[in-house]
Amino acid sequence: MKALILAGGFGTRLRPLSCTRPKILFPIVNKPLLQWTFERLTKNKIEEAILAVNLQTEVFIKQHRISRCELHIAYSRDPVKKPLGTGGAIKKAEKLLGHDTSFLVLNGDIFADLNYREILKIHEEKNAAATIALHEVSDPSRYGVAELANDNRIKKFIEKPLREEAPSNLINAGVYVLSPEIFKYIPKGRKVSLEREVFPKLTEEKKLYGYVFDGFWMDIGKLEDYLKINKILLGSFANQQKYKIGSKVKIKKPVAFDKGVSIGEKTVIGPYAVLGRNVIVGKNVHIQNSVILPGTTISDFSSANGSVIGENVIIGKGVKIGEGCVLGDHVKVRDNVSLARRVSVCPAKEISESVLTPKSII
Ligand code: GTP
Repeated sequence: MKALILAGGFGTRLRPLSCTRPKILFPIVNKPLLQWTFERLTKNKIEEAILAVNLQTEVFIKQHRISRCELHIAYSRDPVKKPLGTGGAIKKAEKLLGHDTSFLVLNGDIFADLNYREILKIHEEKNAAATIALHEVSDPSRYGVAELANDNRIKKFIEKPLREEAPSNLINAGVYVLSPEIFKYIPKGRKVSLEREVFPKLTEEKKLYGYVFDGFWMDIGKLEDYLKINKILLGSFANQQKYKIGSKVKIKKPVAFDKGVSIGEKTVIGPYAVLGRNVIVGKNVHIQNSVILPGTTISDFSSANGSVIGENVIIGKGVKIGEGCVLGDHVKVRDNVSLARRVSVCPAKEISESVLTPKSII
């Protein structure tokens, strides 16, 4: 089975970090999301992946030199400045996917621990045109919601319903198996939404099925989700990590350090802190519940709590960065500045005064 990874969106909800990297390259516990996906495909014995990208994303991925994990990779590119949407991107990859067998489609921005062979099995048993992996959540209103009949057929599929109008708590987990007949349902050469245009038509024709799974699932659509997934995975993986840090540093597990991290005396790291490659942390710093991307420097007596700090950021001395703050790449924060809560700073900005209320600095 071939896999198509949808990766040509703009990740607008993840700004300012997505201004300078596509969503699929966001590091999760110091490993790009795409790398996690490649590893999962290989584990499921899938040998060929097609990346549905835009030009910018393709360039970023190639520069990043992610390990292919023995996968054969091909690119299918949306036309410049004309995103094709989730359906249009599938149609664009028609030749690469071929008409011989069903194929797997993954939203590039999700993390889903499911067995691809099992969803394929349901798909084949039901002779479906499309089978959607469904996951139960407490609030389905941010997602596409499915109502299932007894035989796993999807009776109704509604995109982002009001909470009280959601027909169930089973949401579209962003993993599908599609049969080649799907291409007939997608008009060529224009933007098409799989979820809003194609799935409702398949529901009417009784060709859409669901596969409910209960493994770990998360999408990283919003910054809160990004912090949360780092936190969850830190909890499950990071305790096995070995690192060498000076004896005068206090580590509260779980934490993760990439290569080249240096930390000054009397600094407290954790719980739930991810420090990327070559991050430099001064003395008497406190970092908890935060993700710090590679190459950033945090100077003495500063603190970060509940925040995401981009690449190559320079944080002066005595700076306080509070809950929900996000700093884009190459931002500079001068000494003694406080960013209280939900302050979002665009890449390369310099901040010399405190910001005490939620605000976007562009
Ligand atoms: P937001 O702007 O924050 O909503 O993000 P998005 O558009 O990147 O994400 P959305 O959740 O709407 O898309 C689901 C998946 O489909 C993501 O992995 C996107 O990268 C991908 N995707 C969305 N639109 C397109 C598109 O026009 N072309 C391609 N090739 N992929 C797309």
